[in-house]
Amino acid sequence: MTSNPGKTVFVLNGPNLNLLGTREPQIYGAHTLADVQELCRTACQRHSLQLVFRQSNHEGELVDWVHEAGRLHAQQQLAALIFNAGAYTHTSVALLDAVKGTGVPLVELHISNVHAREAFRHHSYLSAAARAVLCGFGVQGYQLAIDAVAQW
Ligand code: DQA
Repeated sequence: MTSNPGKTVFVLNGPNLNLLGTREPQIYGAHTLADVQELCRTACQRHSLQLVFRQSNHEGELVDWVHEAGRLHAQQQLAALIFNAGAYTHTSVALLDAVKGTGVPLVELHISNVHAREAFRHHSYLSAAARAVLCGFGVQGYQLAIDAVAQW
């Protein structure tokens, strides 16, 4: 069941997520970013949602992409922005402002349980602007997030 068939889910991934599969596998698991994209593709297909899936190591590029999602949102064509901002979660006022400035419905996502890790990962700039926050489900979290936003 889907409340918004035809709408687009933006899935954005921030710095170092291109290293999934080889990066600290004891924390992030063995799946690659290509595997995550495939999970998202299948989940979106199941809900008749369009998928935009991207990764960047550059904060400004991520800001630009949030704006792009914002333009879709303004046209009522965005189901949600699912955003794993990686380390920028804990540092970026610019990404918070981009989300607030566009009003996109945000799911903040983390593969690991950031609250069970170093103290500097416990604070997120994005949470204040998020409709939902999901962490600790591994890469399966992406699929769970898509299943949830399909009902929004
Ligand atoms: C992460 C958690 C962040 O603290 C970290 O900087 C990442 C990945 C996660 O998916 O668990 O790069 O967002």
